Amino acid sequence: MKYIYFLLILFTFQRHLMVIHAQEHPLAELWGIQDHEIPSYLSREANLIEVLEILSIPEVKQYEQFLDFRKANNSLAYLKSSFNEITKLAKQNNPLGIFVSIFPKFNNIVIVVDNYGRNVSEEEDLEEYIRSVSQYKPEVFFADYPSNSLNSLTSSHTKRGCCFGKITERIFCGQGIINEFDGNICSAGFFAKNQSHTFLVTAGHCNKNYHGSGSEKKFFTFEITKRELIGKLVYSSTAPHDIALIDIEQMSKHLRPSTGIINVSNVSYVELFINDDGMPVFTHGAHLCKAGYSSSVTCGYTEAFNGFYLSGLFEIRENYIFVDIMKSFGGDSGGPVFAFTDLNRVTLNGILSGSLKDRSPVSPFNYIVPLEIILKDNNLNLITDPIVPQ
Ligand SMILES: *[C@@H]1O[C@H](CO)[C@@H](O)[C@H](O)[C@H]1NC(C)=O
Ligand SMILES: *[C@@H]1O[C@H](CO)[C@@H](O)[C@H](O)[C@H]1NC(C)=O
Ligand SMILES: *[C@@H]1O[C@H](CO)[C@@H](O)[C@H](O)[C@H]1NC(C)=O
Ligand SMILES: *[C@@H]1O[C@H](CO)[C@@H](O)[C@H](O)[C@H]1NC(C)=O
Ligand SMILES: *[C@@H]1O[C@H](CO)[C@@H](O)[C@H](O)[C@H]1NC(C)=O
Repeated sequence: MKYIYFLLILFTFQRHLMVIHAQEHPLAELWGIQDHEIPSYLSREANLIEVLEILSIPEVKQYEQFLDFRKANNSLAYLKSSFNEITKLAKQNNPLGIFVSIFPKFNNIVIVVDNYGRNVSEEEDLEEYIRSVSQYKPEVFFADYPSNSLNSLTSSHTKRGCCFGKITERIFCGQGIINEFDGNICSAGFFAKNQSHTFLVTAGHCNKNYHGSGSEKKFFTFEITKRELIGKLVYSSTAPHDIALIDIEQMSKHLRPSTGIINVSNVSYVELFINDDGMPVFTHGAHLCKAGYSSSVTCGYTEAFNGFYLSGLFEIRENYIFVDIMKSFGGDSGGPVFAFTDLNRVTLNGILSGSLKDRSPVSPFNYIVPLEIILKDNNLNLITDPIVPQ
């Protein structure tokens, strides 16, 4: 039998030693280290991401605490072809409320069955689906509700977290926004443009009633004392990708768009920074963070790429990145997802679409719409320079 090896980067150490002060950098919290150690850990992570590089390093020993080599029975090619079949079957059977992706940690395809309130016929569809995919031997996990679970991030639930109400005349990425028509609170994702228009990007389901483009829906700032107009919704879709575009042409004169990400714990903000090649790094186990209205900047580890979610609305949302443990709540939807390149510069990776809080061996996890999908779907370019109002 042929074995392939795969690599997991593990940073699960010494958490308990390190809680020094309440407001530490989110990466310090994630890795259980102190703020001043972050730059050196970031560069170690960058090295680890170059897998080939690691294997050629003679002194691999110093990285030992990060590495975990395991024998894998399923080749990636096998998993990919099985995943394609499993996706096809999902489109045929419509088993509502499932998340599916290749999870390298399990060296297998993982199906998480959401605790969605299925009726009898939906339950049968699910069973039929699980039977039909069993030939590919995926791991199937049935998630159950912990008390107080919040499955979708869109709900206009009471806000959590702290420190709101800072007065600013700027609209930052990660800041609260409200779709006044639906009363829906989300987070500003990032700014992008096509040849003629400039948009604020957020999650498609922030348009709660899923009525797309033609609507007159307007988005306003939320956590600023006085609501200011950001712009009109010109595009929204939840499947295959959860994306909405707000045209900022009519943005309030009292508001200035900022391409920085806000840190709501502090008025200071983190500057968005794009890698030289403009592409996010795709490595299992690498850190990703998000900024959002409800829970500010929090981080987790990437678990899986290119997964899908067959929601309770008979629609299949595709190309998701799954990120574990990153804390998020209602209102964080649409917020920017990024990797730090140093203490306060980041590479944008996408926007937050939602999270599964129900208990399963792979949850809680968050699902992210990748940046390049958002840009490609809508012919957009990311804006990182200051935006000068017309
Ligand atoms: C956000 O601000 C708090 C308070 O100053 C700080 O401790 C934390 O490190 C900041 N987070 C980021 C990502 O800069
Ligand atoms: C590979 O297969 C062997 C034999 O079936 C099993 O004991 C082992 O746990 C499997 N390894 C993985 C990573 O699934
Ligand atoms: C179950 O829900 C589906 C929609 O998902 C509906 O079409 C069907 O009529 C319902 N069946 C029963 C038995 O309620
Ligand atoms: C830019 O976006 C606007 C608003 O959605 C659209 O009307 C226009 O056709 C787009 N332009 C190009 C060149 O794609
Ligand atoms: C906010 O951030 C600035 C710059 O990093 C820092 O000087 C200031 O002390 C921070 N404020 C709080 C309340 O943490």
